Amino acid sequence: MRKKVTIVGSGNVGATAAHWIASKELADVVLIDIVEGVPQGKGLDLLEAMPIEKRDSAILGTNDYADTANSDIVVITAGIPRKPGMSRDDLLNTNHKIMNDVVGKIVHHSPNSILIIVSNPLDAMAQAAYKISGFPRERVIGMAGILDSARFRTFIALELKVSVENVTAFVLGGHGDTMVPLPRYSTVAGIPITELMDKATLDRIVQRTRDGGAEIVKHLKTGSAYYAPSAAATEMVEAILKDKKKILPCAAYLNGEYGIHGLFVGVPVKLGAKGIEQIIEIKLTPEEKTALDKSAAAVKELIAVINV
Ligand code: NAI
Ligand code: 2OP
Repeated sequence: MRKKVTIVGSGNVGATAAHWIASKELADVVLIDIVEGVPQGKGLDLLEAMPIEKRDSAILGTNDYADTANSDIVVITAGIPRKPGMSRDDLLNTNHKIMNDVVGKIVHHSPNSILIIVSNPLDAMAQAAYKISGFPRERVIGMAGILDSARFRTFIALELKVSVENVTAFVLGGHGDTMVPLPRYSTVAGIPITELMDKATLDRIVQRTRDGGAEIVKHLKTGSAYYAPSAAATEMVEAILKDKKKILPCAAYLNGEYGIHGLFVGVPVKLGAKGIEQIIEIKLTPEEKTALDKSAAAVKELIAVINV
């Protein structure tokens, strides 16, 4: 049977994720939104691209949660994005209300689904979705680390003038100003980047990675990034649907791993058919551990505000 992926929120990230998923023929896609007409219009438009793309993914736009029934994966992008001058944290209360509205309906119609949360502030929204859904932690995953790491990889490749295919990088921690890029675990064709660039260059790239979301907001003025975020969510969808056992940085609910309890934070996980199949604990230096703890503390402050 064909796999079914529902995307909640058919705005910039949601519609573009539908595009990537359909163009890779990973699954049938249901696009749902609170606004009438937009998911229907974008869904039909995308469906009409399939003969040209030679893909048989079915795409349906709807406002009715009955159409989402029995989804294998649900990607939640519903919410407001930030505008210039806003931080991701400024979205907290509005997007928490939206999460309350959406997650209950999704759970009712797709009780066995895996949730991929995209809405910001990411770690707090993942925590809210985990609590509202009552799902096991394996089935609630936040998307941020792949995006932040992809930005880091892009800047490394630009700086060293090498193929992005040669560059691996890890960014851990919360999806915010305190995120933790890990140069020690970032390589070009297996060579640690610390051996390929001086500290000043590395520090500049690390800072640009931390500011990566804001850099796009500054250009766009009316919203935030969506091509790279939706590609990142699609990589997670693909890893799960194809049971790839892929190691990716994702926000996961930690139960003592990295010394962190009861909190979503970005860490390396193994993604497969069951969702998060393993949380990988890598060795951190005391400085890296301090940075991760600081990032976790920032997430904790946010979840205290919404009490989840
Ligand atoms: P957008 O404004 O283009 O789309 C959001 C959509 O959500 C709109 O179509 C809106 O009508 C819909 N929506 C609002 N309330 C809803 C509800 N109750 N039920 C269903 N749909 C509802 O925003 P965009 O750019 O797509 O971003 C979406 C969210 O993703 C934002 O919160 C943004 O900050 C976040 N984001 C997170 C990233 C990450 O790395 N985790 C990266 C990029 C965006
Ligand atoms: C980003 O990093 C807005 O969180 C989003 O682009």
